[in-house]
Amino acid sequence: MAYAPLHDRSINDPEGYWMEQADALAWAKKPTQALGKDANGSDRWFVDGELNTCFLAVDVHVRDGRGDQAAIIYDSPVTGSKRVITYAELQSDVAKLAGVLRDQGVGKGDRVVIYMPMVYEAVLGMLASARLGAIHSVVFGGFAASELTTRVDDAQPKIVLTATCGIEPSRVIDYMPIVDEALAQASHQVDRVLVLARDQASYDLKPNRDLDWASSCAEATPAECVNVNATDPLYILYTSGTTGKPKGVVRDNGGHAVAMRHSMDVVYDVQPGDVFWAASDVGWVVGHSYIVYAPLLTGCTTLVYEGKPVRTPDAGAFWRVVEEHKVKILFAAPTAFRAIRKEDPNGDCYRDYDLSSLQALYLAGERLDPPTQTWLDNLTGLPVIDHWWQTETGWAIACNPRGVELLPVKQGSATLPAPGFDVRILDDDGQELPAGEQGNIVVRRPLPPSCFPTVWGDHPRYESGYMEAFPGYYQSGDGGYLDEDGYLFVMGRTDDVINVAGHRLSTGEMEEVVAAHPAVAECAVIGVEDTLKGQLPVGLVILKDGVDQTDEAIVKELIRDVRAKIGPIACFQSAHIVPRLPKTRSGKILRAILRKIANGQAYQVPSTIEDPAALTEIQQLFAN
Ligand code: COA
Ligand code: AMP
Repeated sequence: MAYAPLHDRSINDPEGYWMEQADALAWAKKPTQALGKDANGSDRWFVDGELNTCFLAVDVHVRDGRGDQAAIIYDSPVTGSKRVITYAELQSDVAKLAGVLRDQGVGKGDRVVIYMPMVYEAVLGMLASARLGAIHSVVFGGFAASELTTRVDDAQPKIVLTATCGIEPSRVIDYMPIVDEALAQASHQVDRVLVLARDQASYDLKPNRDLDWASSCAEATPAECVNVNATDPLYILYTSGTTGKPKGVVRDNGGHAVAMRHSMDVVYDVQPGDVFWAASDVGWVVGHSYIVYAPLLTGCTTLVYEGKPVRTPDAGAFWRVVEEHKVKILFAAPTAFRAIRKEDPNGDCYRDYDLSSLQALYLAGERLDPPTQTWLDNLTGLPVIDHWWQTETGWAIACNPRGVELLPVKQGSATLPAPGFDVRILDDDGQELPAGEQGNIVVRRPLPPSCFPTVWGDHPRYESGYMEAFPGYYQSGDGGYLDEDGYLFVMGRTDDVINVAGHRLSTGEMEEVVAAHPAVAECAVIGVEDTLKGQLPVGLVILKDGVDQTDEAIVKELIRDVRAKIGPIACFQSAHIVPRLPKTRSGKILRAILRKIANGQAYQVPSTIEDPAALTEIQQLFAN
C-alpha cells in the first residue's frame, strides 16, 4: 500500500487501523476495544488489553526460536570491551535481575530509578522493571545530583539502580558521590541502591542501603513476567519544559508496544533479525524507543554503544561499528555527523570500512541542517532521512515512511506526518494557516498510540502545558509550516526550550540557577546558534548594586553553578554582564527578541517596549 491511503485510513478510521497493528503482538489478553477515555478524560489505547512488555521484547523470541540470535551487542570503545548477548542469555539475565528487584519489594506500579552509563545492565534494568510490571525512570548520566534529586522526589522510587562510574573519553565520572548527594538532598527516602561495580572506579557499599549487582543476581531466583493492563505505565521519562521543574512524561505499556512495533515496519523498514543501531543514550527518549524497546519488540539485534562519534578513537568510530556488526539502519543526531564531518570532511575514515550492510541513515533530535544532509548524501549515496519527534510521543510525528514508500526528500523537511498523526499549523488564535505560512505545529486529537496520556503526578500540567492552548489539539511547542505538498518544515521551538547537541534543555531552569547567585539581580538565558551543537545557552546578567567581584569572576561562578546544578551536558559556557535588558512596560524581559538579536535575525520593536536603548546595547554585544 502507498503512503497516502495508509495515512488517510489511520486518520479516518484510527480504531480499525490500530486494532490491526495490535495483531502483531502476543498479548496476554487481546484488546477488544481500541480507544477509550480514562478518569482524566485522556484518550487511552487498547483499554481492556493485557500484556507484559518484557515478555514481548525478550521471552517471546526465545519461545519462537530466536534464542541463539544476538539480542544486544555491547560495544564500548571507552573500555575496550565488546560483548554479544543472545535472546536466551538476555532472558536468563533479566529474569534474575527481576528476581533481585522482586526480593527488594518491587512490584506492579512501583517505581525504579535508573542512573547508569551506556552499559548492557542499564537495558537489563529497564526490562527487569517492565517484567515485574514496575515503572522505570531513567535519568541521563550527564545530569548533576540535583537533577537526580528532583526526579527521585517526583517519581518516589523503591530502589535506585546505578553503577560505580560512567566513562567519558577524557575522564572517569564517579557516580556514587552524585548518587549519595542526590539521595541525601531528596525528601523521598530511598532504602535500596543496586550498584554495578565497574573496574574503572571502586566504591565501598553503604551497609543497610547498597546491594552489589553481580552477587545479588548470582543468588537470585528468576522472576516470571507479571501481566499488566495496556494502560498501565511502563516508564516515566523526565523532559525539559519552560519552567525549572522537569515534566514526567508517562508512557503506557500497550499503546507503546504497538506503536514501537509498527514504526519498525513503516518508518525504518526493519525486519526481525536485522541489526538496528540508534547511537543515542538510554537516558533519552530515542534510547528508550530505539535502543531498547522497538528493536527488541521486533526481534532485531540492537547495539549499546559506549562511545562518541569522534575521539573514541577517531571520526571513523561510527563506520567501524557499522562494518563490524553489519548494521542495517543507523539512527543518530545531526550534531554527531557535524562532529564527524568537522574532523573528516573528505570522508577518508568512511572509506576505510566496508559499509555494504548499511541501507539508510535516520536523523532526529534536532532539524537536519541542509549542509549536513548534503555531506551525508554525497558521502554515502544512501537515503538520509530526517524525522521529527518528541519525548511526549515516543516515536516520529513526521517521517519519510520508507517501509511503505520512500518519498522524495526535501532538504530541511521532516517529510510527512507518520500514521495516526494529523498535523496542522495554527496561528496564535487557533486559526488554521494555509500552506507555506509559519505557525504553531499542533496534532489533532486523539493522538496515536504511544503518545503520553498524562504528566506523572500532575495532570493539570498536562492540560495546561499541552492541551488547553488549542482545544482539540496537542500543542507540540514547535513552530513551522506545511508546504503545498504537505511536507512539514519544523523551524524550532516556540518556547524557551533549547536543543544542545540533540539534548533538550530548559533555559528557564538555567535562569533559576543563575538568578540564585547572590550577585545576580536579573537574568535571561537564550539559545544561540552553534555550528557544531545546533544551539548553545548564553546568559545575559544584570548584577545587584554594590557587588565587589569582577565580572569575570562572577561569570566563572555562574558557569560552575550551572554545571554543578544541571550538569556538564547543559554546555553553559558563556555569560555576559549587561547594564539592563530590554523589557515591556509591564516588566517582562523580551526573550524572543533577545534570541533573534543573538542569532542575527530580523525583529520588530514592540510598541510596549520600555527602554529601546537596551536593545541597541544587546545588538552591539552580539555584533562584537
Ligand atoms: N555522563 C557524564 N558527562 C557527560 C555525559 C554522560 N553521559 N555525556 C556528556 N557529558 C559531558 C561531557 O563530558 C562534556 O563535559 P566537559 O564540558 O567536561 O567536556 C559535556 O557533558 C558536554 O558533552 P558533549 O555534548 O558530549 O560534548 P562534546 O564536545 O564532548 O562532544 C559531540 C560533542 C557532538 C560529539 C557530542 O555532543 C555528541 O556525541 N552528540 C550526540 C548526542 C546525541 O546522540 N544526542 C541524541 C539524543 S537523541
Ligand atoms: P526530545 O523530547 O528530547 O526528543 O526533544 C524534542 C524536540 O527536539 C522537538 O520538540 C524539536 O524541537 C526537536 N527536534 C527533534 N527532532 C527534530 C527534527 N527532526 N527536526 C526539528 N526539530 C527536532
